[in-house]
Amino acid sequence: MNIYKSIIRPLLFSLPPEMSHSIVENLLFYSPSNITKTLFRNQVNSLLEIEIFGQKFSSPVGLAAGLDKNCKTSQHYLNMGFGFSVVGTVMKHPRLGNKKPRLLRLNNEEALINSLAFPSEGSGVIFNRINKLQSIKNKLIVSVSGILEDEILYNVEYFKGQCFGFEINISSPNTNDLSLLVNQVSIKSLSEKVRRITDDPIFFKLPRFEDLNLYRDLVGTMETFPKVGVVLTNSLPVDDKRLKVGRGGKSGRPLFEDTLNILRAVRKEFPEIPIISCGGINSAEDVFTLLESGATAIQLYTSLIFNGPFIANKINSKLLSIIKTVKE
Ligand SMILES: Cc1cc2nc3c(=O)[nH]c(=O)nc-3n(C[C@H](O)[C@H](O)[C@H](O)COP(=O)(O)O)c2cc1C
Repeated sequence: MNIYKSIIRPLLFSLPPEMSHSIVENLLFYSPSNITKTLFRNQVNSLLEIEIFGQKFSSPVGLAAGLDKNCKTSQHYLNMGFGFSVVGTVMKHPRLGNKKPRLLRLNNEEALINSLAFPSEGSGVIFNRINKLQSIKNKLIVSVSGILEDEILYNVEYFKGQCFGFEINISSPNTNDLSLLVNQVSIKSLSEKVRRITDDPIFFKLPRFEDLNLYRDLVGTMETFPKVGVVLTNSLPVDDKRLKVGRGGKSGRPLFEDTLNILRAVRKEFPEIPIISCGGINSAEDVFTLLESGATAIQLYTSLIFNGPFIANKINSKLLSIIKTVKE
């Protein structure tokens, strides 16, 4: 029997999504981190190990941005088998985000729609939490964003040396004008300016384009800089009247096919650049297909909500047996 699906999920899903999120977040936040270590007993195996810009990770499965916006739970998710965790998106000043309702569950599709728009406790509070996690800081990527370059650069300067690297989120469907940074000139300018601040790796998180050719120029620009990778991709912009703002980003299972197509198109053109695939990833089979198609690593969020906290653990052990079978 799957206890998460038969007991815990129905309880959590009987509450509004943000309330369930904050209950679980606080439970984890106030628990000692060895609780999840003991409970999940995640197995490490060198066959699952990946390397990005010289840093080794015990699993290719990372936690996507948005789940641990304020760095309250990443240490637990790493104990649960995730190879790395994206903290944020972090905002310079505390921010409430959009008005509620702003998070919907689409149970039949195993999908979510959110219009949160970066609620954040602000860089100062988040920095203090990261600072206490020195032993795992190399497994953390800090997600930064802003409509102006300076907002992004401020947080890169602020968090440099405190994490493995940065995800530059220029693709949230919930912040007007973010798309102004999705062009070659902005990517070049941001890459140049970040490189003057730090050698830490950076990953641009791009939106979902229907026209796959649009990725060519953007990724081509990134590739000319050292230690720059790409996250493909953020959620899918959709209209939904149940959200207060009427629009949001869809995530979860329905995104997988496009995630794979986008990866294949970009990998074909760019054999070297690290690509982190994201969107609709649910199973070890999904991860294996993406790795075989050229993903360096993957990230997930929504399938954790629908499948429960053992998702990374389960993917890791099934992926290991798939890899062993293929190697035989
Ligand atoms: C509630 C929610 C909040 C999110 N917040 C962020 C965020 O702050 N920054 C970001 O880059 N992506 C954010 N995302 C997008 C996820 O990181 C991911 O790109 C997207 O959900 C697709 O992956 P998935 O299908 O595995 O969920 C959020 C997603 C959800 C569902």
